[in-house]
Order: sequence, then C-alpha cells, then structure tokens
Amino acid sequence: MRRGSIASLLGIAVVAGGIATAVAVFLPWLPTPASREAGRIDFVFWFVIAICIFIFAVVVAVMVYSIVKFRAAPDDLEDGPPIHGHTGLEIGWTIVPAVLVIAIGIVSAIVLSRNDALGKNVLRINVTAQQFAWTFSYPDANGFTTGTLTVPDGRSVLLTFTSLDVIHSFWVAQWGQKQDTVPGLHPTLHITPDRIGTYAVICTELCGLGHALMRTDAIVVTPAAFASWLKKNRVAAAPPTSSSSPSVSGAAVFTNNGCGACHTLAASHSTGKIGPDLDKLKAWAAQAKQPLAAFVKESIVSPEAYIQPGFPKNVMPPTFGTSLSKPQLDALVQYLISSSKG
Ligand code: CUA
Repeated sequence: MRRGSIASLLGIAVVAGGIATAVAVFLPWLPTPASREAGRIDFVFWFVIAICIFIFAVVVAVMVYSIVKFRAAPDDLEDGPPIHGHTGLEIGWTIVPAVLVIAIGIVSAIVLSRNDALGKNVLRINVTAQQFAWTFSYPDANGFTTGTLTVPDGRSVLLTFTSLDVIHSFWVAQWGQKQDTVPGLHPTLHITPDRIGTYAVICTELCGLGHALMRTDAIVVTPAAFASWLKKNRVAAAPPTSSSSPSVSGAAVFTNNGCGACHTLAASHSTGKIGPDLDKLKAWAAQAKQPLAAFVKESIVSPEAYIQPGFPKNVMPPTFGTSLSKPQLDALVQYLISSSKG
C-alpha cells in the first residue's frame, strides 16, 4: 500500500473519530453520578464508547477511501475481478475484536465485583414497593418507616426489596443502577452515595395505572445530619404488645405507611402532590356531600368509591383497609380530621 493511501486513510479516520468523540463528549448523555458505583459504571460506559469510536473511525476510513478511490468510471460496466480470502486480514479482524471484547469483559467483571463489595458499617434499609408507592424502613431506628429515602453521604447502603403486589423497579438515575422488585423474592442493591443532594426515585417497570406517579425522593445528607435524623425518628422500642393497646399514634400511622409521599399534610411536613391535599379535607368532604369522618374513612379503605375531581383513579393503594388494624385506622382518621385546616 502506498504512503499516500495510508495518509488518506489516517486523515479520514482522524476526522470521523474526531466528530464521533465530539458527539460523545459535548452532549450530556449521562447524569452526573452520585454514588461510587455509578462512577465505576460510567467508567465502563466510556471505556466501551472509546472502543466503539476507534472501530467507527477505522470502518468509516476504509469505506470512504474505497468509495472515492475505487469508484467505477462512467463507461465501466464490467464486474470487478473476483477476490479470494486474505489470511492476514482474517486473522486481524478475528484477533482485534476478540481482544477488545475480552478487555470489556475484564473491566466489567472488576467493576461488578467492586460494586457488590460492601463497605464497613453497612446501613441496611428495607424497601417495600406496592401499587403505587415506595416505603423505606430503617432497622437502625427500630423500624421507623417513611415514604422518602434518606441516606448518609459516603456510607455503604444495602437496600433489601419486597414487593406487596406486582413487579416494580427501583431506579435513581444518578446512582446508575436499577433493581426489579419481584413478589416472593427479596433482591438487594448496594449503593455508596457520594454526592449530597435530592434525587428522584422512579419506578421503571410498568406496574399499573399509577406507574408514572410511583415516585419519591432519595435524599443524601451528611453523616452527622443522618445520625441526628435517625435519632429524631427512632421509634420507641415496641412495648410488649398487649393485644388491645389503645394508644396508637395517628401521626405514626400516617408516616409509617408513606402517605406523605403522595399527599400534602402540613402537620406531618409532607408535601406530596399526587393525591388530594389533606389540609383541605373539610372542603373535599363538603364537595363530596359526605360527613367528614365517614368520608375520610371511606377514602382510606375504599379509595375508588369516590374520586376527587382532578385526580386519577386507581392510584391510591386499595390495601389499607386490610393492612391497617382497626385501632390504627381509627387513629389515622382522627389524626387527619384534627390536622386538616379547612
Ligand atoms: Cu411501580 Cu411502575
């Protein structure tokens, strides 16, 4: 091959590779990672992209060069001369891809094993998915349960998933990993958050009519802020259960069942916007022409019996009538009535 040909091929490859690199680097393809695992996953992504750009440049160079150099003259109607195998070329295009794919395999295996390796002092959180809400329970706070995920910066967090109904999928884009929640299984996901901030938790498995609304927040705070948050929310150690324990806290029932993820209620500092604003329960009951207590109870137990105009059907979980005990339900109804402003 003449020196001029090699220079042309190289020139085309550099231009094609440069354009592809610019598209890769200057467009925002990925969110800024917010966990160590996501940082490593991004590294694998860019490693593969670099290989792809190299192959792209080689293919474009050979293709453009051939189109220009070997194009037929206008009056040339002959077939080209037949060509048989080229051993050198065939060895080359077998060995090079094999080496590249093995390299991707090795890098991926290293990243996967590092991402699965738990750090010291693991924080365990139980995540429950149901149509259409997430709840997060903290064994370190005696099982305190809430509708938003709060985690400390820089510490190994192990989420263990349970689904109460169908397959959901837990995803925080900035953490770079998804985990399906499958009824009957308890999969885990290891995350080491490394950037303070609030990120969206999204369900990415079509799970029913409220799928698009099955969202909440993941909040990454400093370890000190997390320690005081955990202390503040620690549930008093459960007293030996006398079966007719009278003093159930409606506020605790509200928080523990993740109601605040979808509903606004000033008394519990929740600002959910998916379902009706519970500070306005009296107005909603008047609008539905029902007595307040009966209206509130029905809305919890049989949420589809009356749908507040402007809100979607089949989004409120229909399970609270069976999952809450009677004292819990009564306490919740009382709490909502007493907290409602208008
Ligand atoms: Cu849960 Cu989609």
